[in-house]
Amino acid sequence: MPARRTITDAQIRHAAQLYREFGPKHTARELGLPEYKVEYLVRKAIHAGYLADRATPIFESGMRRTQSIEGRIQKHLTDGYILIGSDCHYFPGVVSAAHRAFVKMCREIRPAMVVLNGDVFDGSTISRHPRIGWDSKPTVAEELRVVDERTGEIEEAAGTRELYWLLGNHDARYETFLAAHTPEFQNVDGFTLKSHFPAWKPGWSLFINDDCVIKHRFKGGIHATHNNTLWAGRTTITGHLHSQRVTPLSDYNGTRWGVDCGTMAAPYGPQFQDYTEDNPKNWRSGFVLARYWRGRLLEPQTVTVLDEEAGLVRLGTEVFEV
Ligand SMILES: [Fe+2]
Repeated sequence: MPARRTITDAQIRHAAQLYREFGPKHTARELGLPEYKVEYLVRKAIHAGYLADRATPIFESGMRRTQSIEGRIQKHLTDGYILIGSDCHYFPGVVSAAHRAFVKMCREIRPAMVVLNGDVFDGSTISRHPRIGWDSKPTVAEELRVVDERTGEIEEAAGTRELYWLLGNHDARYETFLAAHTPEFQNVDGFTLKSHFPAWKPGWSLFINDDCVIKHRFKGGIHATHNNTLWAGRTTITGHLHSQRVTPLSDYNGTRWGVDCGTMAAPYGPQFQDYTEDNPKNWRSGFVLARYWRGRLLEPQTVTVLDEEAGLVRLGTEVFEV
């Protein structure tokens, strides 16, 4: 096996200097590297303090608009699609229509970025909530296996390295449980969820240009999407509530959107049966397709499952079968 090359401090400093003066494209050309590797060097340079941030204006509060914060990912996109799926709660033996449609669209659209917006992993046996009756749930090992299988299908279909997994409250159960019960195992391989899925870049939030943020959750309630974009001051794409919708908000700055991705699982799937006590759910199964066109974000589109059993899915006024 070839030895892994370590990046030296001098290389990081050099990349930072080039990036500051000439930007990403020239830096990539100069160093003979693909842009995603330059992005990696830039992240290292920011972390080491060689780059302040992406040279954006400083507000009076002293906070930069795209301040580098642990867990925050900042990306730039001029033209291309972003596919965002949320709340997969993948379950052994179930492949939802939304998941099949997501994989199909990854293959057909070849998105610039693919985002799983939290709660990919369910973690039902390591929840802080007590067991309901004698319900039987998949083990952690079974869940990790099914998440690996489903995310593998997405990786293979998407053909991009721009894969993001933003942490959801269910995903967080994995480390929360281990930190509480086996604190001595901190930093041991496999004791973080992300270590099982190295192809996916983890974070709390993904900021695109200066007009969009994608994260698992923010405000709650029936007006969550409106409040999210109102309080974030930019288009805000969340999951968590499973209630797929796109809410526009226009002010003197133009129009932005509060978006709930819905759930990639089937709303009446086995993972939700007991804890929702078979109540009606104001949920919709599907995901979101966003597009940057000449640097502008167009209104994000919902892709919605019409019929789980028949595998019918709608995008705009088109219906397709998966
Ligand atoms: Fe959630």
